[in-house]
Amino acid sequence: MVQILCSVEDVSEDEPLQVKLSDGHAVAVYRWEGKFYCTDDLCTHGDASLAEGYVEDGEIICPFHLGSFCIKSGAPRTAPCSEPIATYVVTEKDGNLLIDR
Ligand code: FES
Repeated sequence: MVQILCSVEDVSEDEPLQVKLSDGHAVAVYRWEGKFYCTDDLCTHGDASLAEGYVEDGEIICPFHLGSFCIKSGAPRTAPCSEPIATYVVTEKDGNLLIDR
């Protein structure tokens, strides 16, 4: 199902944005080098919201133990993260960001 995440202006390069989908599932939306990405918000290592972390070199750094994931592929990059996070393709339409989930 295609869902609107937010407006393009809602996501800054500095700060990921947490969005709750219609079923309550939380995702994190990122803007990096002018493109948009989306992953699950919940870290696979613990009970942390990745949207409260920060993006560096295309990786989301988890606020709890500073593990990281690639925001494009969801692959774990830095320990203690070892399980990938789910990623979603983001499309832009009429100033909004959408995902199909
Ligand atoms: Fe994210 Fe530990 S909870 S690195």
